[in-house]
Amino acid sequence: MELGPGERLVLRALVVLVKYPAGVAFAAYLLNRYGGWSIPSWAVCLSALGTIPLVIFVAVRIRHWRIYNAAARRGAIIAPTWSGKWPGNLDILQAVLNSFRHGYPGELLAQQFVKFGPTYRFNVLWGFGIFTCDPAVIKTVLATEFQNYEKGKLFQEQMSSVLGTGVFNSDGDMWKWHRSMTRPFFSKDRISHFELFDRHADVALEKMRERFRAGYAIDFQDLVSRFTMDSATEFLFGACVHSLRSTLPYPHNVSAASPSSPFPSASLPSTVSPATAGVDKAEAFAAAFSKAEHLCAERATMGEIWPFAEMRKDKTREHMHVVDEYLHPILEEALRKKAEREREKKAMGGKAVDADEIEEGETLIDHLAKFTNDLTVLHDEVLNILLAGRDTTATTLTFAVYLLAMHPDVLKRLRAEVLEKVGPKQRPTYEGIKEMRYLRAVINETLRLYPAVPFNIRVSVNEGLLPNPNGKPFYVPAKVPVSYSVWAMHRREEYWGPDAQEYDPDRFLDERVNRYLTPNPFIFLPFNAGPRICLGQQFAYNEMSFFLIKLLQCFATMELAPDAAPPSALAPKEWANAPGRKGKEKFWPKSHLTLYATGGIWVRMTEAEENEVDVQM
Ligand code: HEM
Ligand SMILES: *[C@@H]1O[C@H](CO)[C@@H](O)[C@H](O)[C@H]1NC(C)=O
Repeated sequence: MELGPGERLVLRALVVLVKYPAGVAFAAYLLNRYGGWSIPSWAVCLSALGTIPLVIFVAVRIRHWRIYNAAARRGAIIAPTWSGKWPGNLDILQAVLNSFRHGYPGELLAQQFVKFGPTYRFNVLWGFGIFTCDPAVIKTVLATEFQNYEKGKLFQEQMSSVLGTGVFNSDGDMWKWHRSMTRPFFSKDRISHFELFDRHADVALEKMRERFRAGYAIDFQDLVSRFTMDSATEFLFGACVHSLRSTLPYPHNVSAASPSSPFPSASLPSTVSPATAGVDKAEAFAAAFSKAEHLCAERATMGEIWPFAEMRKDKTREHMHVVDEYLHPILEEALRKKAEREREKKAMGGKAVDADEIEEGETLIDHLAKFTNDLTVLHDEVLNILLAGRDTTATTLTFAVYLLAMHPDVLKRLRAEVLEKVGPKQRPTYEGIKEMRYLRAVINETLRLYPAVPFNIRVSVNEGLLPNPNGKPFYVPAKVPVSYSVWAMHRREEYWGPDAQEYDPDRFLDERVNRYLTPNPFIFLPFNAGPRICLGQQFAYNEMSFFLIKLLQCFATMELAPDAAPPSALAPKEWANAPGRKGKEKFWPKSHLTLYATGGIWVRMTEAEENEVDVQM
């Protein structure tokens, strides 16, 4: 029989702790047997059990004392501490979890910055954790002292049943190996092949047109998640899952057969098993992968205690089974083809396959197969890239459209740039996209206010110091989590000026660039920084630019359709008078590994006029 994650955790804890009560019981036995004592068995039981809290209490005190001493020795201090009322600060833990589930993302955590400054200590369950939105601290963790901060064991355990040991989910030499193997694939040549985006964008736009013509609003988040899923699977595997082929969801108040979105991030997961008979394997793959991803995100929000939610069995297992049924034949085929190519080359007396050379039409799997024949490595790596690249791009496009719908003036100016630089019908090119400064600014401003990865975490390897803008540096013990929020950092007036909460793409073009961003580039980190900076950044800008250009060629205006959205998708009424963006919000942002819109972003758009060819800017 195999143990579930929760059972394994309990067993491990028992093995660690059992020696103390066992020791007490054994001592009592010796005293009774040989010392002539007669301790009653109830007293032995009680004192044996009592050793567990005692041991924990003493260990916590000793650790505390050591940490303060070590800090003092290094001329540092402990970051201001957010303390609660309950033992172990369980009230804080509960408030934070509650705020993640029912509140505005990170609000409660951000409120503490006002009280404590941009870095504070967070010590739930007697642990030691740092939370920060200070660009100087984030720079230390991601770049200057990269060696001392890794993703860490906890994160890896949470993700490993889905991601194995790929680039996104490993540290040290394993990470280096994966990164160096995958990186050449994201060279400029490879990522500017737009033919593939073009095909999938055409299908997506046609779907939208159909729905709008029939008089319905659409959930843009759902639609664009299908677009990125289809593009990514074709780009990475060479086999598209065609999620755009199935019927789009209808507005919640339309009684027409209304299948829900297969993507958990769009409308939260149904309990339907993805393995339902009759579903085509590719479609099942897309749905199962999204579900497994969602489960990983749930684990991440629970922190150390995640195994308790999966006591008896690993919940990702059934979904990964569906994923593998689709993926394995593709991997095997790629290895078979590679072996064949090598045989041919040998027969012709040619040189061996050159690993750095990227061939036309080569998929990520073909590329990786040049380095390894290990099915598990191939499997893990492509799923890592799919996870890293798919939701992030979809989410950013979703918020870009949300903001454009809220700001018709920006939409108009962006369309003008599209018509001028690309034209009303022409396919965007790499060179064309590079020239579109306003489009870049619009994408950047979207990533500033709604960074796809709003919260992140690293774990210290050895002790270290973090900068403190107000005095002595902060001491960080070894093996403690340092969480950081670019979402909070991107919205702070301290770094971005008095209009930090406003949507204004011009801040990336006018004198504000020189005032804020140029002197302090770490205030803008949608793609992270340092040696682990996003591998797909250029790819993502290209894909998002390409899609937005085609979207604006097709549609001239857009507006939010709150009437079509399910009630759960709308911002709660109580937010209306809140300061900052919360008060302006028309949807409900939530964060799992990535940011998403609960229940989707429902929109209506009007088509561009046929004769816009003549529009001159
Ligand atoms: C708007 C789109 C995107 C955003 C905002 C984004 C953001 C990020 C962030 C914040 C990280 C750091 C995660 C961490 O280390 O904790 C990351 C890593 C990564 N991203 Fe992206 N990403 C985007 C699109 C993509 C795309 C399209 C791909 C590939 C097709 C991709 C591939 C990766 C990979 C492989 C990593 C791991 C790098 C490493 O650990 O060495 N990303 N991305
Ligand atoms: C957008 O941000 C990127 C950094 O992620 C930067 O390289 C680029 O210059 C910015 N573009 C504009 C127009 O702001």
